[in-house]
Amino acid sequence: MQKIVIVGGNRLTGRVEVAGSKNATLPVMAATILAPGKSVITNVPRLRDVITMKQMLETLGARVTLEHGALTLDTSGCGSHEAPYELVKTMRASVYVLGPLLARFKHAKVSLPGGCAWGPRPVDLHIKAMEGLGARVTIEHGYIVAEADELRGANLHFDISSVGATGNAMMAACLAKGKTVLSNAACEPEIDALAQFLNRMGAKISGIGTQVVEIEGVESLRPAEIAVIPDRIEAGTFMAAAAITKGTVRIANCNPSHLTSVISKLSEAGAHIMQEGSELVVSAADRPGAVNVSTAPYPGFPTDMQAQMMALMCTAQGTSVFVENIYSDRFTHVGELRRMNADINVEGNVATVKGLGKLSGAQVMATDLRASAALILAGLVAEGKTEVSRIYHIDRGYEAIEKKLSALGAKIWREEE
Ligand code: UD1
Repeated sequence: MQKIVIVGGNRLTGRVEVAGSKNATLPVMAATILAPGKSVITNVPRLRDVITMKQMLETLGARVTLEHGALTLDTSGCGSHEAPYELVKTMRASVYVLGPLLARFKHAKVSLPGGCAWGPRPVDLHIKAMEGLGARVTIEHGYIVAEADELRGANLHFDISSVGATGNAMMAACLAKGKTVLSNAACEPEIDALAQFLNRMGAKISGIGTQVVEIEGVESLRPAEIAVIPDRIEAGTFMAAAAITKGTVRIANCNPSHLTSVISKLSEAGAHIMQEGSELVVSAADRPGAVNVSTAPYPGFPTDMQAQMMALMCTAQGTSVFVENIYSDRFTHVGELRRMNADINVEGNVATVKGLGKLSGAQVMATDLRASAALILAGLVAEGKTEVSRIYHIDRGYEAIEKKLSALGAKIWREEE
């Protein structure tokens, strides 16, 4: 196993290029199942999760190549309908194959993902959506088994706004008979990107980017090409890195309109942020001011930025309160940040952070993807050496993060444990 070692204290300066979005790539990869033939996805990030989805599609019979950031996926040979436990357990987003398999083959068997580090993370909304479209769904031996003679368009209302369930329902509805209306649909940019890709495949989706999405079912879809949108969470993480180190970083190849809540919170905390087309220049001169953060579905503050923002607030002047509204237990980073001297108290889904002048370097453990990012951010300013172990979590979602931070002037490297 590998670890990341950081010696804190360097201001970050320079330019960093944001990679394609992981959370946009994964559903688009699954969507290629819907149309037999060769689809192409470019600006693909080099990440563990992308490789896992590649393996998943190969298991289903697709031929997939990944070269120079471009995925070519030939789904003509897809024959298997089964997404096995071995792959789903390593990546929950594998459940995205449920809708496409059901729509194309009228039959899907997808392992239940089970829990994750911060709670049970159910898939009931995905199942309800498939049932709403006319599928019979049973749970057998840890698998979701879905079957349908035909899928029929329907009015589907989501009790909770769910990125994954919206994506799955949208993909299945494209090949259903008649019109589907999704209400309280997720509006995340990654879902918009999926809808754009589906429309390029010949789907008829309208209301993209709103909470009410309409899908007119079509007979068949054709393969298509798309470039993945920039990763707003990676961009946000580098913005927080600039702020926490009191540096000046130009963040290139991002979409600032996807980052309004993050820009607003960091500005409130005292960072100076300039937008120049697809680039953001983030600089900070002083310790951040304390700000309160409440996570919410897009365009609210993303839960995927909560841990990184908390690392920043550990160094703020004053006390900040975090309310985690999406995953009430998503605080696995707190115990590790405390090992670095952070003063954080958690009660239910609320964390209260008393900002301190300094953090101290320590050996800490990555517990999930965004928690690992938070520990690295804390390590950038902590006194002395921080060692983050179990960094396979970070490789799931950040492309060579230590190289990008090192190019900005951080003392950071990867070592075998
Ligand atoms: C996606 C993102 C993840 C992000 C999350 C919230 C991907 C691959 N992952 O995950 O990084 O943290 O959105 O922005 O894009 N829920 C149910 N039942 C369901 C599904 C979800 O109750 O069937 C709940 C969840 O427990 C959570 C909320 O709905 O409280 C939102 O989750 P959801 O948007 O579905 O998250 P994911 O799509 O899994």
